[in-house]
Amino acid sequence: MNKISFTVNGKKHTINCEQAESLRSVLVRLGYQSVRDSDDKEGFAGSDTIIYNDIPVYANLMLAQQAEGAEIRTAESLGTSRNLHVVQQAMIDAGVVQSAYNAPAAALLLAWLLEHESNPTQAQIDEVLSGIFIRDTGYEHYYLAVKLAVEKMQSGSYKSEISPTFRENLTYVGKPKGKVDGPQLVAGESSFVEDRVLPGYHTMVLLRSPYAHAYITKIDTSKALAMEGVVSIITHENCPDVFYMQAGQGNPEPSPHDRRLFNRKVRHVGDRVAAIIAETEEQALAARAAIKVEYEILKPIFTVEEAMAEGAPLVHNGVVEYRAGAPADLDQYNKGADPRDGKVIYQFPLHGDIRHNVASAAHGKIGDVEKGFKEADAVVERTYQTSQIQCTPLEPHICYAKIDGGRLVLHASTQVPYHVRRIVAWVCQIPENKIRVIKERVGGGYGSKQDILVEDLVGYATWITGKPILYRNTREEEFVANSTRHPMRVTVKMGAKKDGTITAVYMDVRANTGPYGNHCLTVPMNACSKTLPLLKCDNMKFDVITYYTNIPPTGAYQGYGAPKGTYGLMTCMAELADELGIDYYEMAMKNKVEPGYMLEILKGLGEGREGKVVPVGSCGLDEALTKGAKMIKWGKKEQSDDPDWKIGKGFAMIQQGSGLPGLDHSNAWAKLLTDGTFQIFSGGADLGTGLDTISAKMISEAFCVPMDLVTVTSGDTDSCTFDTGAYASSGTYFSGGASFLAAEDLKKNLLDEAAYQMQEKAEDLILRAPGEVYSTKTGKTLSYAKLSHDALTGTGRGQVMGRASFTTGHNSIPYGAHFVQVAVNVRTGQVKVQKYYALQDAGTPINPELALCQMYGAALKSIGHTLYEEMILDENGVCLNPTLGEYGVPMISEKPEDFQAVLIDINDEVGPYGAKSISEIATNGAAPAIAIAIHDAVGVWMRNWPFSPEKILKELGKI
Ligand code: FES
Repeated sequence: MNKISFTVNGKKHTINCEQAESLRSVLVRLGYQSVRDSDDKEGFAGSDTIIYNDIPVYANLMLAQQAEGAEIRTAESLGTSRNLHVVQQAMIDAGVVQSAYNAPAAALLLAWLLEHESNPTQAQIDEVLSGIFIRDTGYEHYYLAVKLAVEKMQSGSYKSEISPTFRENLTYVGKPKGKVDGPQLVAGESSFVEDRVLPGYHTMVLLRSPYAHAYITKIDTSKALAMEGVVSIITHENCPDVFYMQAGQGNPEPSPHDRRLFNRKVRHVGDRVAAIIAETEEQALAARAAIKVEYEILKPIFTVEEAMAEGAPLVHNGVVEYRAGAPADLDQYNKGADPRDGKVIYQFPLHGDIRHNVASAAHGKIGDVEKGFKEADAVVERTYQTSQIQCTPLEPHICYAKIDGGRLVLHASTQVPYHVRRIVAWVCQIPENKIRVIKERVGGGYGSKQDILVEDLVGYATWITGKPILYRNTREEEFVANSTRHPMRVTVKMGAKKDGTITAVYMDVRANTGPYGNHCLTVPMNACSKTLPLLKCDNMKFDVITYYTNIPPTGAYQGYGAPKGTYGLMTCMAELADELGIDYYEMAMKNKVEPGYMLEILKGLGEGREGKVVPVGSCGLDEALTKGAKMIKWGKKEQSDDPDWKIGKGFAMIQQGSGLPGLDHSNAWAKLLTDGTFQIFSGGADLGTGLDTISAKMISEAFCVPMDLVTVTSGDTDSCTFDTGAYASSGTYFSGGASFLAAEDLKKNLLDEAAYQMQEKAEDLILRAPGEVYSTKTGKTLSYAKLSHDALTGTGRGQVMGRASFTTGHNSIPYGAHFVQVAVNVRTGQVKVQKYYALQDAGTPINPELALCQMYGAALKSIGHTLYEEMILDENGVCLNPTLGEYGVPMISEKPEDFQAVLIDINDEVGPYGAKSISEIATNGAAPAIAIAIHDAVGVWMRNWPFSPEKILKELGKI
């Protein structure tokens, strides 16, 4: 132990520390919780940034002893949520405080920069943020945040426009009004699961499989169990014999129940072998080292091709069951099943065939593709391969659970609190009323927190031990044991007439689901259902087959299959245009859908059941294409001064959905408090994207009150009503739709109460600022405060409340087009994204500044997926790059030189105030647009993610 003294934020501390203790650890012990860690001391992400003797450093990379006598500043020095620093406020106003795990560190760096440079250049901002990884919002609006802060400091107010505004008749909707949880997040105050942990908690660590495919033949935990502090060890021998799946999807689930908490067979490197619960992390780790496991090693398979091969090893060879729709020959099918493999239980038929590694399959068509291909003047058939990529949320998967009042309480970082409750109840075999899930602020999800990847085990361990338990994935576990994007092989065959009219399209999607079937039907289906409906074509057909393999697990990832399908479909269309010798833009304009066109293809593209045929509704596709083509100067050939660099342009049409019509369901309720302020309870799970702000705006807009008079409670299964969760681009449309309707119901009930109290007719009353009822007939007014007070006196009629449920069969599709200009170095194979223009129709953007930042974030991450992100496995299935640095996520230096997000103004007929979804769609355009631009630049077609310099040089015949 060493005694050290230093000053933090002007306060002197003297503290004992271990020889090897990091400075971050000491700062956290002292209560400076804004100094976070997202990469286990890799020194990459910058969550632990502090100012040390006026120099920015990573606190994790310094020993506490080095701080002797130092002056340290953390984000807590800037301001509190009630009294923000100008930079913190500017960051909120610019829209960059979203999932916000790194927002305090970024605010600290920008404030420090402004102390040294009153009007910094873009290069200076780039340099100061060069060590901060931001996944959610790209980096573009950080320049705006600095600009706003400078303006405020120099003149006391903002001069720059934050974002365009929409719907001039509305006050809050369509205007940048700040994010309701922005202040607590940017100030680094208690927000995340890790901030809720109380002293006395126990730690859980996992023993994971070193093999990709093996049976556990013997496991001996006796020595470990006897070790000091060890409370419990859970393995396949003592876990519940309950099969389930981890995908947070509607119930009955379109993913097979193909796992238990622990299985006798391990199916990927990093699969669960044992959970060790102990009083301290050190004790848990020591016990883990004392567990002895023997394996019978099996041959693994890693690719779709290996899974399809005759006689391939079987990833699942257990008993197959069906909860509904079992085939007549099931007994025969199960003869020869190996009991060591457990079971695969389908909730309804998914056309799986595990004896051939097929987890699920789907087929569909409209018209006659063979006839369509015969009518074509040219037909091309191409195969596109996508790689395995990781969501990389800054906050790793984490769960803190405890027993309170005899119930299991889970503090979760989740997109799906109600699915967490259902699945944990199922695993623990207890009723749902015994469980409370509290969704905390989510430090990044991107789909990976749609799955119940840690809550299942933490919940069960807490239930059986009665101990409060904290579990948090290491960054390496995020890579090897978490959900990733399904690698896919997408073959597209397309035929067209000489004038570019498409006569037939066929898509063959072969997806790799890895060891378990999370989203095995729905993600690959989306590769077709979010792409084929972009085109007017009478003859379309698709086959989708998903295979089990032994790669790390896959699951939901923003875009949910659509980025891969769009890559195949759009690139193939460009290849066909090239073959026909016509302009790809003209071909897109000729074949794109338009309002009123009946989307017959949707019939075969439901999620495990027949989809609904609907016409194209609100649609900004035409405007996105024409505007984008103008911005990029489509058709104008650009030249570089350097002969090594060739310049090319590309674009892609994109679409997504706004939730799942006929499947998703959202509920909300709201109440008038006794002083005339409001509280709304949304079942929706804000994962940083601003859903709570949307709920607040629904009340503010309806009642003409400022947003700070509205409190939003969300994602708490005890106080809020059911919501399917924040996935499938459903947040604004479904959860926001429920909040809109709850506000309308509250308004109706408030007017009824006002009519009663004022002795007037409700139709003569209106609501107006600053929070009162006004009679257009008599001129009388009644404040909300008096109304509420009188309703709650001994003679009143009770609390004024509103409630709503939102479902729809309507399909409000967001559309867009992403345009890109790249420069390709023919000597090195390097690709530079010079211009990137993301144009999207989100209906009415309710939070336009947040919408723009989500478009930047999604576009930048998909540029990363396209050009360099890839999980690399060795021949044994060991991930060779399980760190952020080695894996390679885009930092500020990788941002396109000219990066613009543009919201196309379209009003939707169903969404709240005309809104549709925004951010998932923005991941769909980069891969095809860049592939097409590379072809335009150097004449080669890139048909394999990522487009690395090596692959480009190979295509160019240089290596
Ligand atoms: S070392 Fe900086 S975030 Fe982990």
